Amino acid sequence: MRQLDKASAFRKPQKRTIIELYPWSIKDSNGDGKGDLRGIIEMLDYYEALGVGWIWLPPTFPSPLKDRGYDVQNYFGVHPDLGTEDDMKELIREAGKRGMRIMLDLVVNHVSDQHPWFQDVLKNPESEFTGCFVIRQPGESISNHISIFGGSAWCELKDGRRYYRTFDNTQVDLNYDDPRVLEMIEKVMRYWFELGIGGFRIDAVHLAGKTVQDCLTDAEPNKEWTGHPKSRFALHHEAMTEFRPGTFKILRRLGEIAGDYDGAVIFEAAPPDPADADGYRRMYDEVDIRYAAPIYFGLLFIDWQAQKVKGILERMLDKVPPGATFLPHLENHDRTRFTSRVGSAQAFVGMALVLGMPGNPLIYYGGEIGMRNARHPRIADDPSQAPGDFVRDRARTPMQWDDSAHAGFTTAVKAWIKVCGDYHLRNVKRQEANPRSMLQFTRALTRFRNSLPELQEGEFEWLESGNADVISFRWRLGDQQVVYALNFTPVKQEAKLPRGLTTILLSSRRPPNSWNGDESVTLRPDEALVLR
Ligand code: GLC
Repeated sequence: MRQLDKASAFRKPQKRTIIELYPWSIKDSNGDGKGDLRGIIEMLDYYEALGVGWIWLPPTFPSPLKDRGYDVQNYFGVHPDLGTEDDMKELIREAGKRGMRIMLDLVVNHVSDQHPWFQDVLKNPESEFTGCFVIRQPGESISNHISIFGGSAWCELKDGRRYYRTFDNTQVDLNYDDPRVLEMIEKVMRYWFELGIGGFRIDAVHLAGKTVQDCLTDAEPNKEWTGHPKSRFALHHEAMTEFRPGTFKILRRLGEIAGDYDGAVIFEAAPPDPADADGYRRMYDEVDIRYAAPIYFGLLFIDWQAQKVKGILERMLDKVPPGATFLPHLENHDRTRFTSRVGSAQAFVGMALVLGMPGNPLIYYGGEIGMRNARHPRIADDPSQAPGDFVRDRARTPMQWDDSAHAGFTTAVKAWIKVCGDYHLRNVKRQEANPRSMLQFTRALTRFRNSLPELQEGEFEWLESGNADVISFRWRLGDQQVVYALNFTPVKQEAKLPRGLTTILLSSRRPPNSWNGDESVTLRPDEALVLR
């Protein structure tokens, strides 16, 4: 049994669950068909009742939106479609009143080609900002690297110069060999911390630490290459550019700055095999764990089978250093919706699992009502599409508030992206009225995390359920305990329980479980049970 997550910044606020609110899709306050900050402010009471303590907003900065804001034009402002800096200040204030902190998304690997530095480079071959990017002069050699979004990593300008990009050709990679780059990012962090935010999610930082030499070193041809020119497996350049020593230098500095404000940074970076616990351990070892931690991607990719899921979590939790936090999640704005992956009934089990874990679990907006991938294909432009890839916009559709037009997201005739077809049946209004809904279930789980002393101050440990299809674990404080028993299958399962339990706090199924205090329980299909 080990005590994790006593890290200071991550324990403030006391409600530790992080929710990712895709700002374009939460609520439109001004009828232009796009979500905005004032829309989020309007819904803060809902998020308070959901029991989350952190709100992570994907990029809110001015941007040409070639990659939905992950192409930043100006780090010191708010995208006009989302609102103003005053709106952001109000959001910070109003969230603070409700015990929540705001986390912005800091894109550190690249800037938009509209960023003033790159605009200067475009206009002026002698630009003083040339060194802030990876630029080759006409005739100079380049490497065989391929962009994650397809095509060569090198883009040619009209005058024959070429620049390096890992993602879209409008997302120009920064060069941290030039000290001005990190200085700029530091300024950005201090600027927003001083406005009162609580932290940052750091985007694609595993790629940011590469040197110019790394970009120029040829990659080995990849055996998985399908032969399609847009295949992201064409020539696996990432191996040459990810997790270079520079990445950790950057992260250490960002952690230090966060520390100055008792803020937190969580970063996007998974080892090449996201089930590799040692790979994650290295990330923890390289940063200041009081203020920084890697987001855990293992659950996004694993087959949803009890033993596999328990296996990777057990190995991972074993590696999380004492004092650090753990950041598990099941879905995000780049991946399939969890409910679409495992089905509505099993989605309850996943929610109970992540919200039962130590650390700061992350949930994705709409996950609390079991939102699914929309069936309609890409509606907005997303440059990431390689053949066979998941269409990311399918998991970015408007939050389903009620059964009115556009699910109550906007009063506009047309929303920036069409609502998912099931909103008449799956929405907050309906689930508010149903005590057995996913929404009520999620609220109960966060309530346990936020208020039961066992989960607040106790210790986490795995239990032997005696059944390969059931994961079970407990939180213990003195002789008090809270036990989670999770049936990963659509059929009944028997599971052992420890001695001393007297009540069922929560079940994902109806009618109430007929458990009568025995040291075993029959879990119904897809049942998640919490006992005390
Ligand atoms: C991260 C973001 C993704 C974006 C990419 C480039 O992976 O999550 O949405 O496209 O970085 O910034």
